[in-house]
Amino acid sequence: MKVTILGAAGGIGQALSLLLKNKLPSNSELSLYDISPITPGIAMDLNHIPTNIKVTGFSNGNIKNALQNSNVVFISAGIPRKQNMNRNDLLYINSNIIKNLVKKIAEISPKAIICIITNPINITVVIAAETLKKAGVYDKKKLLGVTTLDIMRSNTFVSNLKNKNVKKIDVLVIGGHSSSTILPLLSQINKINFTKKEIILLTKQIKNAGNEVIKAKAGNCSATLSMGQAATRLCLSIIRGLYGEKNISECIYTESELGYSRFFAQPVIFGKNGIEKYLPIGKLSLFEEKILVEIIDSLKNDIKLGENFFKN
Ligand SMILES: NC(=O)c1ccc[n+]([C@@H]2O[C@H](COP(=O)([O-])OP(=O)(O)OC[C@H]3O[C@@H](n4cnc5c(N)ncnc54)[C@H](O)[C@@H]3O)[C@@H](O)[C@H]2O)c1
Repeated sequence: MKVTILGAAGGIGQALSLLLKNKLPSNSELSLYDISPITPGIAMDLNHIPTNIKVTGFSNGNIKNALQNSNVVFISAGIPRKQNMNRNDLLYINSNIIKNLVKKIAEISPKAIICIITNPINITVVIAAETLKKAGVYDKKKLLGVTTLDIMRSNTFVSNLKNKNVKKIDVLVIGGHSSSTILPLLSQINKINFTKKEIILLTKQIKNAGNEVIKAKAGNCSATLSMGQAATRLCLSIIRGLYGEKNISECIYTESELGYSRFFAQPVIFGKNGIEKYLPIGKLSLFEEKILVEIIDSLKNDIKLGENFFKN
């Protein structure tokens, strides 16, 4: 199994690389690519950790070797959002990076499962889909936006508030991956009842968690360590599916069949070819139904921005 990280020298890329060096199945290959010249050194650094995972590192100009024969590719290349940063600046820079990297994947490793971490995910995943379509290799079952951090945060916040074992909590978070499009389905958590006030507080906390991390990091970078852990969880699930394990389910941002918007974060089952099955989102409370209506407009606007990116 070969996993490739594009953007591997960044905050998320390095955390993810370290975790995967320790957690990938034995004899997997971990390939790192970044425009930063330190990338081969990161691979050397990691290779001094005694596990059966071989790490290779490539920097600018050598993306072909990095991508060849990849089964799974994570993209965290780009710039993170900073406090007071104009959304359009982030969008323009990261959209171009995604378009160019996905073009390369289409050329070099068209059958790989592509997982996009680079924000704004609601839009960058659409750009990736359109890029793959143009290249004639789009398979919606092999492209996804990583929203796992929203689930991990929800699990943590619920566990903290209700003093419950976090290992037994797995909150479904649907919609998109921005404060205006994230929707945690707290009503579906087994055996935990919330007051109305708690639901309002938790929903707000989960939606704004990304902004809070940026603020707490003095406005200079976004979540990297928890994001590395989230991408690791998702990567290991995808690989278990690829190896033929049954019923491996995760929530991801994907071209959806639910009919709310073209792309939507929802639960799926992974299998030998990527997404094997799209799962329903289950019953929503009245409070969640109301928010769902509000987020769909915002999500549709984001998706249109991604689609329009190709018309300019
Ligand atoms: N999905 C999520 O939940 C989530 C959470 C946090 C952050 N993010 C996003 O992840 C992205 C990365 O964040 P970070 O903190 O690691 O940023 P970072 O600045 O630390 O790292 C980004 C890396 O991308 C590299 N890069 C830039 N252009 C490249 C290119 N064309 N090819 C290869 N590498 C390139 C840079 O050299 C850098 O090493 C940001 O867009 C951020 O907003 C997503």
